[in-house]
Amino acid sequence: RRSRLGSGSPLLVLLLVLPGSEEACPSVCLCLSDTVSCSSSGLTKLPLSLPSFSVTLDLSHNYLSWLFPASFKKMPRLENLRMAHNQLDSLAEGVFRNASGLRHLDLSSNKLHVVEQHYFQGLWRLEELLLFNNKITQVEGGTLSGLSSLKKAYFSINQITDFPFFSIRDHSHPFLTMLDLSSNRMSRLPWEDVKALPGLVQRGLYLHNNSLICDCSMYSVFWHWDLRGYNSLRDFADEHTCSVEGNPRASIRFLRHSRFFRNCTVEKPVSLPVTVLLSHVTVTEGQRVRLDCQTPLSGTELSFTWLSTGKGRLTRASMNDTLMSMFDNGTLEIGAAKVNDSGLYVCTAADVKQALNATREVNVTVLPPPPPGSFNTGYTTLLGCVVTTIGVLAYLYMTPCRCGWCKQPRSAIPISTYDPSTLTPVFSPSARDKINTHKHVAFMEPTRTNKQIGLLFQTNKKDAVSLNANRKNYNSSDKYLQQL
Ligand SMILES: *[C@@H]1O[C@H](CO)[C@@H](O)[C@H](O)[C@H]1NC(C)=O
Ligand SMILES: *[C@@H]1O[C@H](CO)[C@@H](O)[C@H](O)[C@H]1NC(C)=O
Ligand SMILES: *[C@@H]1O[C@H](CO)[C@@H](O)[C@H](O)[C@H]1NC(C)=O
Ligand SMILES: *[C@@H]1O[C@H](CO)[C@@H](O)[C@H](O)[C@H]1NC(C)=O
Ligand SMILES: *[C@@H]1O[C@H](CO)[C@@H](O)[C@H](O)[C@H]1NC(C)=O
Ligand SMILES: *[C@@H]1O[C@H](CO)[C@@H](O)[C@H](O)[C@H]1NC(C)=O
Ligand SMILES: *[C@@H]1O[C@H](CO)[C@@H](O)[C@H](O)[C@H]1NC(C)=O
Ligand SMILES: *[C@@H]1O[C@H](CO)[C@@H](O)[C@H](O)[C@H]1NC(C)=O
Repeated sequence: RRSRLGSGSPLLVLLLVLPGSEEACPSVCLCLSDTVSCSSSGLTKLPLSLPSFSVTLDLSHNYLSWLFPASFKKMPRLENLRMAHNQLDSLAEGVFRNASGLRHLDLSSNKLHVVEQHYFQGLWRLEELLLFNNKITQVEGGTLSGLSSLKKAYFSINQITDFPFFSIRDHSHPFLTMLDLSSNRMSRLPWEDVKALPGLVQRGLYLHNNSLICDCSMYSVFWHWDLRGYNSLRDFADEHTCSVEGNPRASIRFLRHSRFFRNCTVEKPVSLPVTVLLSHVTVTEGQRVRLDCQTPLSGTELSFTWLSTGKGRLTRASMNDTLMSMFDNGTLEIGAAKVNDSGLYVCTAADVKQALNATREVNVTVLPPPPPGSFNTGYTTLLGCVVTTIGVLAYLYMTPCRCGWCKQPRSAIPISTYDPSTLTPVFSPSARDKINTHKHVAFMEPTRTNKQIGLLFQTNKKDAVSLNANRKNYNSSDKYLQQL
């Protein structure tokens, strides 16, 4: 019948909401264009039929305690599923079967106690996973394995004692920038696994208000993060506590009171604090600029491509008649920068063998040269210098006058835009250094306003460095350039 009416007919729209049709809106829900809201409807189970066109389904604040396998298979366009504030204590095998379009899944404020390996199987597009305020004691090893698009995961306010840090790696979770494990019950973490987390994950890892036990290996990790000024530590400095020999009453705010750890040794940081993903380079017109293309990828078989906002793809051929050139290691050199060379430069390093690529972005600003007046000043200075010299020579045989104008030739400034701290593991196992308790920490005032809620809705700047696993057709650098 529908096909005869044709698309766009107002009758079709009417049909869509007729009761009995498979597109019916359950009476307790509110159906808008692509959104179905059944929140606070007293539901104890999922409505039998839900409109198949919905992209967002809100089931929060109900009494759902059980979901059948493949509960959402008739909603092929579903991307956002909100089930906060229900009574779910476990998920059956395959609940999300045929719901692989999900990007945002909110299961916060339920009663889940173990996050089992199969829970999120197949959700490879999932970007945001909210599990805070449950009763979770354990997250099984492979739970996060297939979630290769994951950007943010919230596990705070649970009773987690173990977390599979080992399952999070650059190649498995290239986009993960937020992992909230605060307010749990972790006392001893596998610090070696934590130190092996990708740099972006370490930066976005929240561990405050756990039941950490004070020891040097713990302190060493936080010491490095502190040095780098990570927000997770700055914003929650007072909530970072550890207990002495596990005695909860002997609790130390270890970011504030480092005296206790003065006998610890820490590994020397690879480089000093820094937090930019998107590097900025500012030069004056005429100067030579070098932009590195170092990424987490290493190896000899890397190929490099540079794209710039103004010039598009920079190949060896297109650079031939300009003063630009590219070295074999990916470094781009602009011989004499011009104001209109300013802009965003994106380098992609590709490892064809491993089917991986990684991008690096540099924002280049070329300032106009100083106004020509400065030459006159220099000339005047020279004249003055000469006159003075003659005057002085009348008395002495030497000239104490040194004028800056004389050593004019412009020197090239090689600019290293690579900041290994954001990419490589933060720790260098070799050098060891005794902590100097008086020098190492310079706190900024903690911003105490946003806390938990702020954390949840904090928007992270788009990853400037991202690894693309080739099997997913997800190329952030291309997207980013399209936006520009
Ligand atoms: C669900 O997915 C399976 C494969 O995982 C597929 O065979 C089946 O046709 C899908 N069902 C629906 C309703 O899309
Ligand atoms: C710390 O975590 C506990 C639960 O583990 C929670 O009840 C408490 O509110 C949290 N405190 C802060 C300051 O977040
Ligand atoms: C640190 O070492 C000194 C001597 O080496 C010792 O007296 C002191 O008790 C130690 N402090 C701690 C907190 O272990
Ligand atoms: C680059 O320019 C030189 C001459 O300056 C020319 O011989 C060479 O063929 C050019 N190469 C490309 C790839 O265009
Ligand atoms: C890349 O090669 C150039 C020229 O050989 C060199 O000057 C530069 O330091 C190298 N950059 C890196 C990061 O190795
Ligand atoms: C950039 O400026 C140079 C001169 O400074 C000029 O020759 C060139 O055409 C300009 N390029 C663009 C794309 O505007
Ligand atoms: C690059 O820098 C310029 C000037 O510093 C700024 O206006 C621009 O927004 C920056 N671009 C990006 C993408 O950050
Ligand atoms: C990076 O990986 C994506 C995903 O496979 C691919 O489509 C893209 O062409 C790669 N980019 C480069 C510059 O190789």
